[in-house]
Amino acid sequence: MPIAPSTPRFDLKDRSVLITGANRGLGAALCKTILQYSPKIIHAGYRTAPGEFEDPLNSWCQLDIQDEASVATAAASIGELDVLINNAGMLIPTAADPAEERANLEAMMDLHLHNPLRLIDALLPSLQASSQPMIVNMISMAAFASVPGCEGYCTSKAALHAATQGLRLKHPDIHCVGVYPGPTATDMTAGSTAPLADAMKSAATILSGLCEGKTAIFPDEAALAVESLVGAGVATLEQQFTILLSD
Ligand SMILES: NC(=O)c1ccc[n+]([C@@H]2O[C@H](COP(=O)([O-])OP(=O)(O)OC[C@H]3O[C@@H](n4cnc5c(N)ncnc54)[C@H](OP(=O)(O)O)[C@@H]3O)[C@@H](O)[C@H]2O)c1
Repeated sequence: MPIAPSTPRFDLKDRSVLITGANRGLGAALCKTILQYSPKIIHAGYRTAPGEFEDPLNSWCQLDIQDEASVATAAASIGELDVLINNAGMLIPTAADPAEERANLEAMMDLHLHNPLRLIDALLPSLQASSQPMIVNMISMAAFASVPGCEGYCTSKAALHAATQGLRLKHPDIHCVGVYPGPTATDMTAGSTAPLADAMKSAATILSGLCEGKTAIFPDEAALAVESLVGAGVATLEQQFTILLSD
């Protein structure tokens, strides 16, 4: 007997979506792929220059998430918002000099933790007014174990992973999702010798995962191998801690 397809828990149709760092890489792939879902509007965030693609549903929005004034201006101009995708990121390889390494870690903690949290705060009134609010944080499979040469990056992504769990507790009415990609072919991995996932394929998997109502998405082969090691364990711990602390 054919199995009926499960009803998606979330519908991106007619939704207002903001993606940070949408001009290139995974952000651009998400932007292009969401168009297939007929959203109401995509606020495609860019820091310096908009991406090279145009669509009537795509609205380029200047947003440097490290700049408080830029965040305030973007938040004021966006108004209605259903889905926030915190995608902007950077990978600074580990520096040999300790002072340089501390400065790099600070920059990545800002970009991957403090800035997304500030953006969420700025957009909270809009998200809370939505009938189907969603926050999606682009984390990394490297949040679960440090990768040699990228220790600071992994630390900052581990912090974003913990913060995503925290957001779920603090905002039970908002669907908060962590995305944990493996190495993916974008500017970030230029020159890497690791097998790289295709950004457009990952974007398609991420978006179908969002519509299925997943809270953790492992969008490629390398990420799925990590999920098989830690995925259920993390979800179970999250539930157990909630029960423990509610007693
Ligand atoms: N590629 C991978 O293998 C991989 C794996 C796991 C997770 N991720 C995560 O996925 C996300 C996207 O990565 P990617 O591979 O697409 O990287 P990418 O190609 O290097 O693109 C990074 C994007 O982030 C934007 N950005 C950086 N700083 C910003 C700021 N202060 N304000 C606004 N935007 C800013 C960049 O804008 P500009 O063009 O202005 O620089 C660019 O659009 C990141 O969070 C990354 O950590 C990537």
